Amino acid sequence: MTDPPKAGLDAVGRLAQYVLIPRIAAPGLSLVALRAHHDPAGLLVVVLLMMIVLNYLALRYWSSLAPSLRHPVFLVLDQGLALLVTAALGLGTPMVLYLIAGGVLAGLIHRARPVLAASLATTLVYGVLLVFEAGYVPGGDDFHTTITLPALVLGAGPAGVAMRRILVQQDRTATQLWQLRRTAAVREERLRVARELHDSLTKNLHGIWLLSRTLEGSLERGDLASAREAAGVIGETAEGLAGQSRAVIQDLRDVKRENHSLVEALQERVSVATAGHRLRVTIHDERPTPRPGLTAAGRRTMLAVTSEALHNVIKHADALRVTLTLAAAGDQVVLMITDDGRGFVVSADRPGHYGLVGMSERAARSAGQLTVTSSPGSGTTVRLELPARPRPAPEPSQAAKPVHRNRPHLFRRDHALSPRGGSV
Ligand SMILES: Nc1ncnc2c1ncn2[C@@H]1O[C@H](COP(=O)(O)OP(=O)(O)O)[C@@H](O)[C@H]1O
Ligand SMILES: [Mg+2]
Repeated sequence: MTDPPKAGLDAVGRLAQYVLIPRIAAPGLSLVALRAHHDPAGLLVVVLLMMIVLNYLALRYWSSLAPSLRHPVFLVLDQGLALLVTAALGLGTPMVLYLIAGGVLAGLIHRARPVLAASLATTLVYGVLLVFEAGYVPGGDDFHTTITLPALVLGAGPAGVAMRRILVQQDRTATQLWQLRRTAAVREERLRVARELHDSLTKNLHGIWLLSRTLEGSLERGDLASAREAAGVIGETAEGLAGQSRAVIQDLRDVKRENHSLVEALQERVSVATAGHRLRVTIHDERPTPRPGLTAAGRRTMLAVTSEALHNVIKHADALRVTLTLAAAGDQVVLMITDDGRGFVVSADRPGHYGLVGMSERAARSAGQLTVTSSPGSGTTVRLELPARPRPAPEPSQAAKPVHRNRPHLFRRDHALSPRGGSV
């Protein structure tokens, strides 16, 4: 699985960057106002220009600078400088916007306590300036300057802290969900391995046990012919079992195969199943394009059925050729495995033989269907139908646009065997 989600933390970073924009605009506007008053005090102009450049650099190189900016010294320096400039320029100037944006930014990046202390201190200084410098009476002369703005200066820090907490909490919830999903995926995989062992190994081992009882009985009766036959079947079953366990282990180990196309995965199964046997196998892909695919579980079912069907061809059919045909029928993906072997009478009851039943059960579990068509002398066809994987819905055109992280838009550079004879 991927890393735990941190979209909330990313959003905190983006918000902080957006808050830097008014922190560039405010000193800019103050500069314009200074020029308009034909009163460009040298040091003040330099300080305002420095504020613009520093905030621009913070915005531009946020991802690399943010960790250092979290130091409390920056909080003190930033708010102190903002207050000094506000004091020099006056309370009715755009620098108040700088103070408010600074509070929100501090709340987003610093810890709550220092931020609350800084908000309180800044508001107090604002109040002192209000009374002593500007001569305002709180609540008196100008409501916005004396009440609204100091309230915003006081509230900005806590607002930033609250925003960060909400977004970080969102990450915690998403991480808990991510952990639950991961645990569920591990459990599902364990159940799958257990099913795999049951389907491919346990049933056949039970078959070997039953045959060994038959062998014992034959030996006690002195019936050597049937003892030899039972021993032969035991050997064949054990050989088949070895092949199946190899396939299961290979399947569990090789995660890379999950990226193979269905045809490549089938080819791989064919070469493993037919190694050392003279059998000509051809694969035809007759699915229309775009080719309908299978779910991961459906694909495993198809590969397991292919292995078992080929194993049967080798063990029972005495065939020269096998054809695997992939096709589509409605919303189903169809695989037909046809051999030109001796065929057989398909019957429902074959005690001690679990291959066909197992294939059928697997297909049913994947909401599919398995049909075996055969008659003596005319070969066998195993037909597996599985539901195609639903195609993802087309994305809305906007979603196709690239998403730039940590940078505001401004700076974007299957159960039925129903043969001609019967059903198992
Ligand atoms: N492709 C095939 N060609 C001929 N006979 C087959 C084929 N597949 C299956 N059979 C017959 O069906 C029987 C049941 O097969 P299966 O359920 O796989 O059990 P097993 O392979 O252990 O005998 C086989 O014993 C064989 O007689
Ligand atoms: Mg079999």
